[in-house]
Formats: sequence, structure tokens, C-alpha cells
Amino acid sequence: MVYGTVNSDTGLTKPITINTLRKMKSDGIKFATVALYDAPMAQMAQKTGVEVLLVGDSLGMTVLGYDSTIPVTMEQMIYHVEAVRRGNNKSLIMGDMPFMSYATPEQALSNATRIMQAGAHMVKLEGGEWLADTVKMLGERGIPVCAHLGLTPQSVNKFGGYRVQGRSDEQAEEIIRDAKLLDAAGADLLVLECVPVEVGKRVTEAVNMPTIGIGAGAETDAQVLVINDILGLTEQPPKFSKNFLVEAKDIPDALNKYNADVKSGAFPAEEHTFG
Ligand code: KIV
Repeated sequence: MVYGTVNSDTGLTKPITINTLRKMKSDGIKFATVALYDAPMAQMAQKTGVEVLLVGDSLGMTVLGYDSTIPVTMEQMIYHVEAVRRGNNKSLIMGDMPFMSYATPEQALSNATRIMQAGAHMVKLEGGEWLADTVKMLGERGIPVCAHLGLTPQSVNKFGGYRVQGRSDEQAEEIIRDAKLLDAAGADLLVLECVPVEVGKRVTEAVNMPTIGIGAGAETDAQVLVINDILGLTEQPPKFSKNFLVEAKDIPDALNKYNADVKSGAFPAEEHTFG
């Protein structure tokens, strides 16, 4: 195996680090990310070779029944990061910073410390230019950061709904400029959510850090899907998602298919992307 990280019986054999992901980007090999929230799913992800796990604040909607991510608390994030970490000691684990937990650099430092001490290897923050100093400060103190641009769900009330971002030239240029600023500030990864294929491609070409798309087309360095969507548990699945369980014999098989389709470029297909 090229990266010496996957065995077909036991799954990941070596811990995935940011260096593994950078090498995958430079070698043109795509990596799979799954947003999940508990130990059994985290264990299955390890066995099926999923490189990155995101303990997303989407858990507010997928697990806790809220209608947005805004009510999610630090305590809830810590509880789920701890559970995921207990189930998986090989994938790289990212923990989402919940709404208003990083509004100032001081809050960001103290709350990111708690997420890291719960077992995450990296924190994820939503936002552009205004976060560049925070990203730099966290990085200097040893806390890796995944940035998140495009549709940032914590700003749903500002956007007036869950809408594709970056459709106008002005919006697209702003996303690309923000991505470059965050890259220069030392961000380690970038989630790009719900942007046209062309914007996903241009951002990926413009930055050094690996990009992870969700509804951002097939040209990003990696893909992320929420476990509920992969397993067909979502009542109204988003256009960019795919139920991998319908063609699979069980949950590990569905995760295997997702991982394989990300690597081969079969997922996302055109029907999962925005023009
Ligand atoms: O919270 C989450 O699961 C996320 C992904 C949808 C990218 O941010």
C-alpha cells in the first residue's frame, strides 16, 4: 500500500497525520473524511481505512434534534470528541468549535485547548479573513486548524438559509481570497461547503493546504460526508450527498464503497455538484 496505512483485514495500520494528508495532496491521491459522532462508527471507520474523522457540530441536527448547529455547546462537542477518540486511534480526528466559542482569540485559545484535550488532533473553525490572526495564534501554540469556507452553517441566519455560496464573481473571488489568507496564516486543512465546482477547483489550485469538499465538486483534494447521509438516515438528503448503504451489504461495506469512490473520483458525480 502506497502510504503503508491500510490493511484489508485490520484497516488503518498507522496513525494518519497532517503530513500523510499533505503527501496525499502532492501525490494526487484523494482522502476520505466522515463526519461522525460515536465510538462504534469511529471504530468501523478505522477498519475501513477512512483517513479523517470530523466530530462536526452537525451533531446538533443529526443526533440531538435541533434545527441548526447554533445551540450546540462546548460540553456536547467534548462529550462526542471523547467518544470518537475512544473508538479510533488511527484516523486524524478534527473537532468542531461550536457557535461563538471562537468569537475572540482568547475564547478560541481556551476552547480549542479543551477540544484538543478531549482527544482531537485538530480544531475546525468557520469563517474567512477575520479568523486569520486566530489561526496563526493557535498554530503558533501547537493547535492545528481546519478552516471552513463557502456555506458555513453557523452563519445560516446571516445567509438567510442554507444556500450555495460563491455563485457570483464577487463572492467567488472573496472565497478564493479568504482561502489564500487562511493558508498564509498557517491553516492546515480547508473544508469548502456548497460552492460551484469551478470555485472548488480554483481554491484547491490556489492553496498549499489540502482541501476537503462537501458539495464543492470533484476537484478538491478530499471529500467529506455526514455518516447519516452515507447510511440513508436523512429524511431529505442534500443534493451533494449519497446513500452508500443501498448498494452495500452492511455499514462497513458502505464505508468501504464511499472511501473507494472518493479515491477513484467516482464520488462526487455531476448529480452531486453545483454549477
Ligand atoms: O459539522 C459538520 O459535520 C460539518 C461538515 C458538514 C463539513 O461541518
